[in-house]
This record gives sequence, structure tokens and C-alpha cells, in this order.
Amino acid sequence: MELQEEQTQEEMILSFLAEGGDEFTSGAALSDKLGLSRTAVWKHVEQLRKLGYRIEAIPSRGYRLTEVPDRLTSLELDPLLSTRELGNTLHAFERVESTNVTAFRLAQDGAVHGEIVVAEEQTDGKGRRGRTWSSPPGKNLYFSVVLRPELPPSRAAELTLVSAVALAETLVDAGVKAEIKWPNDLQVGGKKIAGILTELSADTEKVHFVVVGIGVNLNCDAGDLAPEVRELATSLKLARGQPVIRALFAAALFTRLEVWLDRHAAEGFAPVRDAWRGLSATLGHEVLVKSEARELRGVAEDIDDAGALLVRRADGTVERVLAGDVEQVRSKKS
Ligand code: BTN
Repeated sequence: MELQEEQTQEEMILSFLAEGGDEFTSGAALSDKLGLSRTAVWKHVEQLRKLGYRIEAIPSRGYRLTEVPDRLTSLELDPLLSTRELGNTLHAFERVESTNVTAFRLAQDGAVHGEIVVAEEQTDGKGRRGRTWSSPPGKNLYFSVVLRPELPPSRAAELTLVSAVALAETLVDAGVKAEIKWPNDLQVGGKKIAGILTELSADTEKVHFVVVGIGVNLNCDAGDLAPEVRELATSLKLARGQPVIRALFAAALFTRLEVWLDRHAAEGFAPVRDAWRGLSATLGHEVLVKSEARELRGVAEDIDDAGALLVRRADGTVERVLAGDVEQVRSKKS
């Protein structure tokens, strides 16, 4: 069931209160902005309180938002978003098979650049290379964004690295030392905290659309995750010792993603590559790269101007790797 799409008067009240931050917004200002009576504003505030918003009210000063419920619908996200396009249309679901599957279908039906599908739970979350993404309900972030970039298909893979940079920076801002393991695993202390799955619809000349799906372990405990990934994964809560308000994290990530997508569109891949290098857990390490066809061992030296990993073998030759899983064998420096 889709939860909510249009901006309601309650969402508008929340937007104004969120804009006010720690300051009070007067009841008169809210009535004027919304064209409602003071009593109608009061009724909407009461309704919001029933949904879990804590709104302080002082007769001489007005209203102030002090707590938002930990849910991911337009009601929580819209007031926090100042993006131009990303999340302007938000499809929020309680449960879906996979947000990537839903977003792909919406894009085939004409969804515009920036439309986002978010879900509290995925029953068949998809990981890279046919794996599943453990998606317990109500604790993490699972979303997919439809992009319609002006790029030839050969450059579409750059968007995964753009997303990885935005995701790593948002995690760092949230207080953990996040690093990117090539191509797009986000990890903290060697354990996976987030992943990106990019899917493409294109013909030989043109990208029709790209769906970038991102899963971030936010407030889950190890026991919430599927047994096979428990030992290898962490969450923001586990890594920094305190939970996060998911809507705040999601809004920060959407904003950062738009900043990097804009930069990529304006300046190309070079600034993304520089930022990616600075956030990389892979470069400078001895790695074992496993792909469907083969295994390659060497030192991960750099990424090239298409995002491919450059691995120097023991015999000195450099191999270019476009896809695969990386295992770090040991640090080159140790
Ligand atoms: C990986 O590291 O293997 C990629 C994981 C991507 C998971 C996200 S969760 C939201 C979106 N919907 C999916 O089914 N997968 C991606």
C-alpha cells in the first residue's frame, strides 16, 4: 500500500515548523500562510501530535517542532527536503518486494528524473551479482531513485561512484569513519554498512533511465539481519553507539546526492574520481578481485577515468577491472 503522496495542510504546517528550527512560529503566521483559521491550525497540530510529532505550543509565542516520529513518508521527509528535484515525488510504501523493482516499473511508465521509491521493508531486496539484501522492517533505509541523465550508456556506471561518494560523505557527517570498497560497498571498520545497486535501461546510443537503489543499515542490531551477513555487516547505530532519526539521515543523503549529481553533470567525472579516491578503502591495498570469469591478485593502484579499478600484478603489468568483488588481502603498507 502506498502511504502518501500529495502535500497536505499538515505537511505544510510541518514544513513551516521545520523551517523555523528551534524558533517558535506564531499561530497567526501559520494561519496567514495556509489561509486557515487559528482553530483549524490547532486541529491540524493536534492531528500531527497523534501521529507522534511532538509540537510545543506557547500561547504568546506559537508552535515549535521538538520531535518527529521515526517513519519515512512524505509527512516526515518533505519538510526536511530542500532539494530541487530529488524526492519532489516520493512514493512511500510500507512493504515492497524491492524498491528497485518498483522504481524500474515507474520509470518504464514515465516517472521523471528524481522520483524516489522508499519502503519500510523489502520482502526480496536485491544486492549486486544476484545476492539478496537483508531488509528488516522499520529500522533501516531502502530507497531507489529514478535518474534521467544526459549521458551515453558507456558513462552510466559513473553514477554508481557518484552515489557512493554522496553516501560516504553522509555517513561521515553522521559520525562514522565510512570508506568505499570498490566498486560501491560502504564499510565502517571493515564491515559493510550500505550498498548500491544501479540498474540501467538504454539502447546503444542513449540512456533511457537509471535506477540507483541504496540500502543503508541505520538502526538495526546484528540480530535483525539475515544470519549469513550478520558477522560481516554493521549499522550506523552499532558503529556510533546511538540510533539515528531515519528521516533526517534520508533527507541529508538525498540532498548530498543531488549536490554530487549536479556536480557530475556540470564538471564530469574528474571531481567525483578525486573525492572517491579520498574515501577509498581499496586503493593502496593488496586485493583479490573475483569476477564470474576469473580471479586476479595484485595491488589496487587507482581508478581510471571511467571508474574501472587498476590492479598491478606481481609481474608489474596493470590490469583494468570493470566488475567484480574485491577482497582485501593485506595492506601494501603493513
Ligand atoms: C549490494 O551491495 O549488493 C547492493 C545492495 C543494494 C540494496 C538496495 S536496498 C534499496 C534498493 N532496492 C533493492 O532491492 N536493492 C537496493
